Order: sequence, then C-alpha cells, then structure tokens
Amino acid sequence: MTTRRKLIAGNWKMNGLKADGLALARGIVDKLKTAPAPACDLLVCPPTSLVALVAEAVGGSALAVGGQDCHAKASGAHTGDTAAVALADLGCAYVIVGHSERRTDHAETDAVVKAKAEAALAAGMIAIVCIGETLAQRDAGQTIEINRSQLRGSLPEGSNATNTVIAYEPVWAIGTGRVATPAQAQEVHAAIRAELVQKLGADTAGRMRILYGGSMKPDNAKELLALPDVDGGLIGGAALKVADFWAIAESC
Ligand code: G3P
Repeated sequence: MTTRRKLIAGNWKMNGLKADGLALARGIVDKLKTAPAPACDLLVCPPTSLVALVAEAVGGSALAVGGQDCHAKASGAHTGDTAAVALADLGCAYVIVGHSERRTDHAETDAVVKAKAEAALAAGMIAIVCIGETLAQRDAGQTIEINRSQLRGSLPEGSNATNTVIAYEPVWAIGTGRVATPAQAQEVHAAIRAELVQKLGADTAGRMRILYGGSMKPDNAKELLALPDVDGGLIGGAALKVADFWAIAESC
C-alpha cells in the first residue's frame, strides 16, 4: 500500500506578465478556499520574474511556489543566473532542475543538473529532477537505459524521499499533445523506481515521488495518475488555466 501523496506541479515556463501570474495564482488560491481540497500537494513554478509576486499572492495558502531553475553556486559572478538560496529567500519550497528545455537550450549535462539539485537541497528546498528520452532515443529502443543513466548522473548527493522528486518527461510528449500511453509511462516509472532502489534502498525509493510530465491534460490525467508508480504530474500548457490545473488536481 503506497503512502506517497501525489504532487501536481504547474511549470509556467517563460509565460506571463505580472497580471497573468497574479490572476493564475489567485485563481488557484480561490479554488482552495471554496472547493473541496484535492487529494494532492499543489505547486506552481512561475518564471523567475514573477516568483516574488506569486509567493506573496499565495502566502499562507496550501499552494506552494517553486523556481524553474537555479545556479549551482550560492553567489558570485554569474550574470543572469539565480541562486537557489535566493529562490528560497523569496519563498520557494521547490525548484525544478534539469528540465529538457534547459538540457537542450543551455547544454546542461547530468553533472550540471546534479550540482544544481545539490544547491537546491543546501538551500532547504525540494529538488524536482527532470529526466526523459527523446523520440530518436525511444525509437532506437534506448528509453530505459537513457532514463536510468540520466537519473544516476543527476540525482543529488544526500537525496531522500523528502528533499527530492523525480519528474519523467519524455521529450517527445512535451507541448506536443502526444501523451505517453499508460503502459509507456508505467514502464519507465517502474524502471526509475527500480533504479532508485539500487541507489537509495527500497524504503527511500518506495517513498520518493515520481511525476509524469508531457501533455498531461484534464482528459488524460485520471488514467495516468492511477498508475502504480505515477505520483503526480509536472504540467506545462494545462497549468496556465486555473480550470485545467484544478481539474488535473481533482483527478488525484
Ligand atoms: O515541465 C512541464 C512540461 O515540460 C510538460 O509540458 O505543455 O506538455 O504539459 P506540457
């Protein structure tokens, strides 16, 4: 019997100005006040430009706020970057690291992702470590090995079920409307859990949350979230509408 509480996390990516971020955050907080509480933890990860505003808007509610990336160092000459400790200072409880868009756009390696995740932990935040195969890798039959290897390389030292969440995001499913089938998702999630057993032991692996990300929407969320090793979702497009985000949360 699993004791993992699901996490529904919205990754807003580089979307929204102040008014949009406020409306979205306030809309979710209003739902929390007026509707029955969904059976999951809720998180939004706004762009860095909106983190302070959103953190203030959700203050005191059950909606957590996270960053979308952080630097591995706590301070220094890193123009344009944001330190994990600075995100924590703004009220972030989580930070996403190693999203495939960062791995691709910024050439982030597993070692970089690991260092960022370690910075997140050092700042007292929960690291959401993203992994996932490309379509070419899936077509080449490399899905499981790629995910295992990214996980091995990206998992922070000191990682445990409380301070780390894994997000499996098949690159071919992100923003494409092409969602992994339940069988595809469960196969990879189970392989990730098996790898976590090797790395961290059965107890920690059994308690660590593994999210699915990639075109999760209100109409497919229930089926994905019912899978034995899917412990929540990392939502992109559907997290930009209060009704869709809430509907996914209600599917838990
Ligand atoms: O991090 C979330 C993500 O990459 C999935 O995006 O738009 O396919 O839900 P989307």
